[in-house]
Amino acid sequence: MCGIIGYAGGENSTRAVDVVLESLARLEYRGYDSAGVAVVADGIVQAKKAGKLQGLLDELAAQPLPATTTAIGHTRWATHGSPTDENAHPHLSFDRQVTLVHNGIIENHAELARDLAVRGIDTVSETDTEVVAHRLALALAETGDLTEAMRATVQELEGSFTLVAIAADSPGTVVAARRNSPLVIGLGDGENFVGSDVAAFVSQTQRAIEMGQDEMVTITPDSVAIQTFDGEPVEREEFHIDWNADAAVKGGFDTFMEKEIHDQPAAVRDTLLGRMSPTGALQLDELRIEESILRRVDKIVVVACGTAAYAGHVAKYAIEHWCRIPVEIELAHEFRYRDPVVSEKTLVVAITQSGETMDTLMAVRHAREQGAKVLAIVNTHGSTIARESDAVLYTHAGPEVAVASTKAFVAQITATYLLGLYLAQLRGNKYSDEVVTYLDELMKMPDRIADVIAREDEIKNLAREMRDVTSVLFLGRHVGYPVALEGALKLKELAYIHAEGFAAGELKHGPIALVEEDQPVFFIVPTPRRPLLHAKVISNLREVSARGARVLCIAEQGDTAVDEFAHAVFRIPETPTLLHPLVSVVPLQIFALALATEKGLDVDQPRNLAKSVTVE
Ligand code: F6R
Repeated sequence: MCGIIGYAGGENSTRAVDVVLESLARLEYRGYDSAGVAVVADGIVQAKKAGKLQGLLDELAAQPLPATTTAIGHTRWATHGSPTDENAHPHLSFDRQVTLVHNGIIENHAELARDLAVRGIDTVSETDTEVVAHRLALALAETGDLTEAMRATVQELEGSFTLVAIAADSPGTVVAARRNSPLVIGLGDGENFVGSDVAAFVSQTQRAIEMGQDEMVTITPDSVAIQTFDGEPVEREEFHIDWNADAAVKGGFDTFMEKEIHDQPAAVRDTLLGRMSPTGALQLDELRIEESILRRVDKIVVVACGTAAYAGHVAKYAIEHWCRIPVEIELAHEFRYRDPVVSEKTLVVAITQSGETMDTLMAVRHAREQGAKVLAIVNTHGSTIARESDAVLYTHAGPEVAVASTKAFVAQITATYLLGLYLAQLRGNKYSDEVVTYLDELMKMPDRIADVIAREDEIKNLAREMRDVTSVLFLGRHVGYPVALEGALKLKELAYIHAEGFAAGELKHGPIALVEEDQPVFFIVPTPRRPLLHAKVISNLREVSARGARVLCIAEQGDTAVDEFAHAVFRIPETPTLLHPLVSVVPLQIFALALATEKGLDVDQPRNLAKSVTVE
């Protein structure tokens, strides 16, 4: 969950602190309870502070750290111990010889702390991390070498961790290790980096190396040496990061979220890019699962969390229709705690923006243990889920920095459409003739999304009028149902007000009791070109309107049936039913953003949340 950076610069470089602080600003979306930085100067010097990074920056402006070659930094999302200065990382060892930052959870920290106490070493923080710093210092005293000391220390640890450490007597050296938490290496010119994701160093270099599970690395300005926890050297190929630093900044918008909403036409376009052959057929070369296996698949289980799970929910409607394969959608954190029925004929599809969500990772591992093939739909290259799955279909949304997901969602839906259409093409069933038509329609979606965004002021005005509402309901049918769920989630997490999404047909089975005079209710209205579906939603609309609700509709251009009941209608372009979510979700994202902004809330970093949830 936390953001981590380590930097080893050459003798003439004195920019370690600047590099690390700039990196922490980019990583702050991973956690913002506290921040800290440590350098090797004359011994170890460090500064850390509870609260957002700005607090630390202000402190360092008054009392700068020494200019030096070697530094580590951390932004924290608290798991063990409240967000205080003391619990902030880095954690310094009892003898001040080493300091380290950590992402993950050390499950046996209490046992290690007891053992340290017997040796007369007490801990001063409430974290699970501090004990590791002390163990590392003991190991360093024994071995005299930071790499060897880290190797000895990780053998003692249970749980998940990325650790990045520096030692007082090793300027120019940073040692890092990973198990179950992310770590990527950045290759510079006379300087090297480690980070929890490529955003940590993409402004400095676009050359990177992924780290494997249970591996560690020692970086100096001129060398990168990877080895397993057993000491076996590891060779890994470098890859090019195709994001540049500009992609990770706000690009003229006030917030990352607004920028990312505006990035959505490009996110869909880029996710489609390069996946069509010149003959118009779909080609997904990256699916490293044999075609014979894909032809045999008799069930698909989607595992994901939050917004990504709603993308999976949309996928169910599309894939079942095109492929005639049953699709189950399962919240990843529920999956392995029951006894799911999966076999070699099951394709498990894990959907995740970060590729690091621990709940999803554990579901992936469980599925593979049961013999299922796992296909991951992932936005972040080099992430753990991408590495651990049988195949990866990357979304090309670019870095998503705002904690609340927007462009990753539409890119995920797009990728699931590609998967569904590809399977239909491969298996040649009765709906496979729709493949060409839908591919053609998909190519039109970026312009349709852009059309919605161009009229964002209509929604912003509505949000302004509604700034004092305390509860909003969202109703949809068919693919409008997951859109309703997503609309409600966005409003909860950004504006901190009660919001619920329902299947419109469920209304009369209970939720209609919530409807009273002036209750705002959003309806995601399907296309009138599906008359039966459309008529059912119109009758639900009548039901709430009759009870005095304030009805707000997301409806297609030309759909006049809604006019009689709606207080406000936001028009979306005509779109085939299955592709509707790509346009109908956009006004709901804008509404949540605008309402939260009206209320003066921090839309990029809502309270209590973190971008990448790497704990179960
Ligand atoms: C909500 C949101 C979350 C994520 C969920 C999964 O706006 O962003 O619900 O969708 O935590 O995250 P990933 O996709 O990284 O696995």
